[in-house]
Amino acid sequence: MGRLLLRQDGEEGPVSSALTLVRLASENPLDFCLGWAILNGRCACWHRLTSRGECVMRVLSVLTGVCAALLVLGVAGIADAEAAAGAPTFAKDVAPILYENCVACHRPNHLAPMSLITYSDARPWARAVKAKVLSKEMPPWGADSSIRAYNNDASLTQAEIDTIAAWVDGGSLEGNAADLPEAPQFADGWSIGEPDLIFTFLEPFTVPADGTVPYSYVTVPTNLKEDVWISAHEFRPGDRRVVHHVIAQVMEDDGKPATGEVRLQRDRTRARAEGASVGGYVPNRIGTVYEDGVAVRLPAGADIEAQMHYTTIGEVVEDVSSWGVVLADPSETRPREAGGGQVINVRFDIEPGNADYAVTANRTIGQDTYLATMMPHMHVRGKSAKYTVTRPDGSSEVALWIPNYDFNWQLNYRLAEPIYMPKGSVIEAEFHYDNSGNNRFNPDPTAEVHWGDQTWEEMMLGYYGTVEGPVTDTTTGQ
Ligand code: HEC
Repeated sequence: MGRLLLRQDGEEGPVSSALTLVRLASENPLDFCLGWAILNGRCACWHRLTSRGECVMRVLSVLTGVCAALLVLGVAGIADAEAAAGAPTFAKDVAPILYENCVACHRPNHLAPMSLITYSDARPWARAVKAKVLSKEMPPWGADSSIRAYNNDASLTQAEIDTIAAWVDGGSLEGNAADLPEAPQFADGWSIGEPDLIFTFLEPFTVPADGTVPYSYVTVPTNLKEDVWISAHEFRPGDRRVVHHVIAQVMEDDGKPATGEVRLQRDRTRARAEGASVGGYVPNRIGTVYEDGVAVRLPAGADIEAQMHYTTIGEVVEDVSSWGVVLADPSETRPREAGGGQVINVRFDIEPGNADYAVTANRTIGQDTYLATMMPHMHVRGKSAKYTVTRPDGSSEVALWIPNYDFNWQLNYRLAEPIYMPKGSVIEAEFHYDNSGNNRFNPDPTAEVHWGDQTWEEMMLGYYGTVEGPVTDTTTGQ
């Protein structure tokens, strides 16, 4: 109770003056009040001041007001008094933040370990919630948004973080049920609308009850007889509880039929279809709908190769995941093509113990286009990632800066304003790795680390997505 009383948001009145006293005292450790016990008009104070008299004086100066106020409110009204004094409540202040930023993952039978929808769901996790939002581990978001804006920015504002912290410090009050916003509804169906085509795993993937499932590569045929343009795509996990994230690539037709075989390595014999995409998956970002007039080309005969990252949940699960795509309206003029590629460097030798090993890679852009998205991919030693665009005129800008890379979250950062890259521009990626013992994810700081698919090996893969500029000459269709 005393802890709750420490909150005070400038409200006037007797409660406020009592709170001020408590706060004043608590701010000065040599002269502090340990707290008030206030029960039905019986007010007592433990006060550690230089003189008892001083204590009594101070206490008396506010005692009347405090007792009066609390008598009016009654014991049952204590929570209201505190709320009135400004302690945030779940219903009014915190639920809206959780609904907007957390429950896409933190809801029943979803990926995150617990639901944060109701007060009784969230209350036991209050301290953990405060810790994770203060450390910015939750919601997952790596980019420094102060240098560039992203339209899928998941980070909380400082005001939201402060509200959550104050709610927990104020005793994690429930508040008034009437204030509670309606919990968001999550459609079981497709977020992109009804797909025109659905590509599905040929065989179920068996996820064991426990242990770690190695990254697994599953190939899914599209059976497309001709190239198609798609205006939206979405990955749909067969069982959301076990699908952590998915990175999907489109492979060109090489005449070989896709089989249901699961591999532990990507298939190096196959060529990627540059720029084609059916979307990957991170639990809080569902489908991708391209802006009007923008579409991705999927080539005839393409196969999808998906790197599946599964987590175990204590029971055996059979997962059959799929992709849905919406075809672009054929009556429209040729869409602006969404494309992309990767900057990649496979040659590096990260020395044992090196806490800051840099690897760079770059790629020259062959035609005028816009940089729209970026997704750096490293494994457990990944530390930071930066993408820079340098134009032929020498001007350059940082497109993405991730100071604390976390390999658990394979996030795709979507620029709020795509960056123009005239032909000849260079995208450079600079990734850093921490192979020291200070990296808590490092399985072996004594190992020299090279490129490899397995999590104990490393990768330096900077995926990026582009979108063509507006088509200016409609007569020639160029
Ligand atoms: C992208 C999905 C996602 C979003 C969005 C998300 N979380 Fe999480 N959260 C997870 C997953 C998965 C875990 C468990 C794995 C981990 O700890 O990294 C987790 C773990 C946590 C934990 C630690 C639980 C424990 O076992 O100690 C807390 C607390 C938490 N999240 C709070 C939040 C809050 C608060 C928000 C919103 C402000 C949020 N999360 C947003 C997916 C998410």
